[in-house]
Amino acid sequence: MQLDVVTLFPESLDWFKGQRHVRNAVEAGHEVRALDPRPHTPLTGRQVDDTPFGGGAGMVLRVDAMEAGLRGLYGVDPVELKTQRRVIALVPNGRVLDDVLVDELVQEEAITLLCGRYEGFDERILEEFCTDRVSLGQYVLAGGELAAMVVADAIVRKLPGALGHADSAGEESFSADLDGDPEYPHYTRPAEWRGWPVPSVLLSGNHAEIERWRREQARLRGQAAPGARLDRG
Ligand SMILES: C[S@@+](CC[C@H](N)C(=O)[O-])C[C@H]1O[C@@H](n2cnc3c(N)ncnc32)[C@H](O)[C@@H]1O
Repeated sequence: MQLDVVTLFPESLDWFKGQRHVRNAVEAGHEVRALDPRPHTPLTGRQVDDTPFGGGAGMVLRVDAMEAGLRGLYGVDPVELKTQRRVIALVPNGRVLDDVLVDELVQEEAITLLCGRYEGFDERILEEFCTDRVSLGQYVLAGGELAAMVVADAIVRKLPGALGHADSAGEESFSADLDGDPEYPHYTRPAEWRGWPVPSVLLSGNHAEIERWRREQARLRGQAAPGARLDRG
């Protein structure tokens, strides 16, 4: 997969790109890039934003600057680009990221995440250049970079080769393997701590029983509260 983050602050992804699972994914042949559209802007003084028509506080990312930025980065008209790859705007009011969406995105060969800043995007960027609008939830972040890293992290860890153990990303909270339920409890040594013993089934060595217990615990957790499980449809 080629996973690009288009941002005015590409250095903000340096930490993310240095993480072990991201480096593993890159070594396995995937690409994770932070791309700055600003050098391609046709406006003087490297301008990419402007005041909103109608008034109001803050600055809005300009459609012509983003058009030139995407064209400069990809060498095609951004209206065409969205037919070639998934172009996802990070916005507060989009489809909320969940494991179903992550599983969908992991199948893509190429994804571009667009980070907003200031007041956000000119509406024409969203309508003309983007295939999707994705949100982390109903609150407002200062910029799209953290959101992009969350989306990218959730995708990258599911790419083959990213995590050390082949099964690590399988039976996890909200996954299809657990029918959308949260993961069961884990325990490690010591086997007893402050009078709290580890459930004896986990020490039994009976793998079928352990599997049954884990499934049951996941199911119970999923029923514990509204929203505790992901309805995978
Ligand atoms: C300060 S926010 C703009 C908020 C916008 N004026 C509004 O009220 O909806 C700047 C940028 O941060 C990103 N952002 C903020 N909240 C987000 C969220 N919940 N999910 C994803 N991205 C978010 C978006 O890229 C957005 O364009």
